Amino acid sequence: MSAEVDQLIRVRGMRARDVPAVLAIEQVSYGYPWSERIFRDCLRVGYRGWVATDLNEAVVGYGLLSVAVGEAHVLNLCVAPDWRGRGIAALVLEAMITQAVAERAETVLLEVRPSNRSARRLYKRRGFKRIATRPGYYPAADGREDALLLALELDI
Ligand SMILES: CC(C)(COP(=O)(O)OP(=O)(O)OC[C@H]1O[C@@H](n2cnc3c(N)ncnc32)[C@H](O)[C@@H]1OP(=O)(O)O)[C@@H](O)C(=O)NCCC(=O)NCCS
Repeated sequence: MSAEVDQLIRVRGMRARDVPAVLAIEQVSYGYPWSERIFRDCLRVGYRGWVATDLNEAVVGYGLLSVAVGEAHVLNLCVAPDWRGRGIAALVLEAMITQAVAERAETVLLEVRPSNRSARRLYKRRGFKRIATRPGYYPAADGREDALLLALELDI
């Protein structure tokens, strides 16, 4: 983590009132964004959410994690375009991994598009390993795109 990010960015739990700001980042970040309903449902059913905020308390990134029977699943991780490349996703990911450890998960799983180079580098740096491919998992302009299933084994 750089000193700059350490001083400028705070990571805290996502609240229902963060959803509009989260949704705005979601919509400029993905070709197939989640709806507001999905974010609200995730919080309602008790999935863990985090937001990264700047010095003005504006939301600049977020993550969502589910944990069940020893398995944590990164459901979403996203940073606003103007804020990328400063280690903010790494910070949110770390908060998720810490939570997974606290809940005694043995593994953190996530799916990533093979074409998503910067996300793949981020996960690889943090020790995630590719364990499977999910054929046709994602919608794509020319049909469907596979997902790579990555896993981080936690020492418990
Ligand atoms: C993937 C995504 C979350 C990464 O967010 P990010 O905040 O830019 O990630 P980080 O800053 O932690 O790492 C990204 C790059 O910045 C670099 N970086 C990190 N801290 C840095 C710093 N202080 N100074 C300069 N560069 C830095 C990293 O080395 C990394 O470089 P690389 O991609 O060339 O390896 C972001 O691109 C995004 O939101 N994409 C759209 C949504 C998405 O695809 N999410 C993932 C779904 S699986």
